Amino acid sequence: MTDRYAVIGNPVGHSQSPRIHAAFARQTGQDLEYGRLLGEPGRFAEQIREFLAASGKGLNVTLPFKGEAWRLADESSPRAEAAQAVNTLIALEGGRLRGDNTDGIGLVRDLEQNWGYELRGKRLLLLGAGGAAQGVVWPMLERRPERLLIANRTPDKARELVRRLASPGALAGCGFDDLVGEPFDLILNATSAGIGDRVPQIPDGLLATGGWCYDLMYGDLPTAFVRWGLEQGAARAVDGLGMLVEQAAESFFLWRGVRPRTAEVIAELRAGTSL
Ligand code: ATR
Repeated sequence: MTDRYAVIGNPVGHSQSPRIHAAFARQTGQDLEYGRLLGEPGRFAEQIREFLAASGKGLNVTLPFKGEAWRLADESSPRAEAAQAVNTLIALEGGRLRGDNTDGIGLVRDLEQNWGYELRGKRLLLLGAGGAAQGVVWPMLERRPERLLIANRTPDKARELVRRLASPGALAGCGFDDLVGEPFDLILNATSAGIGDRVPQIPDGLLATGGWCYDLMYGDLPTAFVRWGLEQGAARAVDGLGMLVEQAAESFFLWRGVRPRTAEVIAELRAGTSL
């Protein structure tokens, strides 16, 4: 029987994951189906069990269920533990479920492999301390930046995240008002301000000469934060489409043991063609 996978979220209709995984499956010759599941609040765990009972081998989990998926998993990877969120569920022998989080490695791979940007030794500013930010902090720290400052509109949430991760040295948290005078090599936007086509209200002049901006969000048109970055003189200001494809590729690898080529899938999505 064909192995089944799905993305579960609410809403889920807009998810690009089925297109991306179908492209990966074609490219690698893997026999699988990948669908969408509209998650129902209060029935998430039950829906997962039902899916697994019907030849389901794994799921991607998106908003608002990543925290619930982490709690549901029988075991989790260290990066999922750090994020306290799971975006990939893997069915193990004996009905057990493993949780992983591929968002952060997706971001890191997009930067390093697709854009040729090294995080090691860099001064990084991460805006936001919600779910999106939590998912990426640990894999970024593993790349040994000189500094990773998390700034959030609600400063205590940034400080709490830093306390929880208890990482030595490089990591700190603050509010937007505390961001004065310090230049950063890369500013990343992990806030949801872009949903309203807005940017976080941070001071001008925080980007070092030759610095980059990265928006974890993506869209058909340049996002508000990408436009902001270009106004700030960024050498490059890029969106999170590559991260989306890279996190999917890592999930695909966890399930199938095969690593798909991502560049052609990113290019096809970027061109807006049907995959
Ligand atoms: P997500 O999973 O997308 O991160 P979330 O957990 O609700 O969603 O977190 C949203 C993040 O975007 C938070 O860091 C939030 O800041 P607060 O903690 O102060 O609420 C941030 N955010 C949302 N709208 C914003 C805005 N207009 N300006 C700045 N930050 C904003």
